[in-house]
Amino acid sequence: MSGVGAEQSRRSHQLTDRVAIVVGGASGLGDAISRRFGQEGATVVVADIDEPGAKAVADAIVADGGNAVAIACDVTKSADVEAMTTAAAALGPRIGVLVCSAAIESLTPVLDLSDEEWQQVLDIDLKGPFLCMRAALPHMVKGGGGSVIAMGSTLGLIVAPGHPAYCAAKGALLNLCKQAAIEHAPDNVRVNMLAPSATTTGLFMKHSGKAPDPDALRAKIAAGMPMKRLGDPNEVCDAAVFLASDQSTYLSGAVIPLDGGLAARRIV
Ligand SMILES: NC(=O)c1ccc[n+]([C@@H]2O[C@H](COP(=O)([O-])OP(=O)(O)OC[C@H]3O[C@@H](n4cnc5c(N)ncnc54)[C@H](O)[C@@H]3O)[C@@H](O)[C@H]2O)c1
Repeated sequence: MSGVGAEQSRRSHQLTDRVAIVVGGASGLGDAISRRFGQEGATVVVADIDEPGAKAVADAIVADGGNAVAIACDVTKSADVEAMTTAAAALGPRIGVLVCSAAIESLTPVLDLSDEEWQQVLDIDLKGPFLCMRAALPHMVKGGGGSVIAMGSTLGLIVAPGHPAYCAAKGALLNLCKQAAIEHAPDNVRVNMLAPSATTTGLFMKHSGKAPDPDALRAKIAAGMPMKRLGDPNEVCDAAVFLASDQSTYLSGAVIPLDGGLAARRIV
């Protein structure tokens, strides 16, 4: 089935027996994944530093017939992450899924990158997922298993000029995932990464929106993709449900590129 459209057919209720935490769920891909998990029957914890945004997503899931709560959480603060995870664990029989989607992107080349900007990106994009895993993994172990899904990026696999902090954080996040995956494989806890290229939501749309002609820039980037188009958030949601569900019980320590073949390509 195409990843785009056919909304009703996606409600296959594959996640009914589990709490799913989506960190960074207030916007973009985290928002889309939260809503899809709600449709799949999960009890969704929409965690984000943007509390009104998280509440809007949780309210929309509930209005759509699902179960969701919003919890304010700054991923760089271990006390916030611990409190959020404890609250999530009280909502159901087990924390079955953790999605680490919160991130920022900086577009500053190496020689112009300040200590502060470097540290901010590393704190949110790398330390944040570490703190979330450290807090959630014991609950998953106790519950007999679980699935951690880290949102990486094509830029964590291959790089592009002007993204040193983001590329470094996403590249390191992949090895963190592999490390957590092997440490917790005996516990039936799986840890995988989704690595999208530019999609029609979130950070890509925000950053490209600052260009003098956003549509022209987006069209140029789409034309440079092997599939000649940008990714759709629904395609990321399809992969997230696969990783969160019992369809992928022997898959761990892996990175799934959602890039239309981009990272596989050598240009000339
Ligand atoms: N949008 C894309 O095209 C794209 C492409 C490749 C990878 N990604 C990755 O997908 C993930 C989601 O990105 P997005 O585009 O949806 O971004 P987004 O900006 O739309 O959403 C990120 C969310 O993270 C939250 N956040 C930021 N700092 C936080 C903090 N300290 N604590 C808690 N929450 C915080 C924001 O409030 C926001 O709701 C990211 O990991 C990103 O790197 C996105």
